[in-house]
Amino acid sequence: MYVCLCQAVKDAEIRDAVRDGHASLDAIADKLGVGTGCGCCREYAEALIEQLSPVGKAFHEAA
Ligand code: FES
Repeated sequence: MYVCLCQAVKDAEIRDAVRDGHASLDAIADKLGVGTGCGCCREYAEALIEQLSPVGKAFHEAA
């Protein structure tokens, strides 16, 4: 599923980037360009990154 239409970035690419240690929107934006166009995807991308990051995962699993 596309998360960022402006840069044609899919959730799987974000998942791979988070797994490689890019655990913030800024880091993902630098790597993949997410959120660097219209900005509409930034809120969703940030939530996805938080959910996928090790700290975010632990939080969601504990809740
Ligand atoms: S949809 Fe991601 S910057 Fe426009």
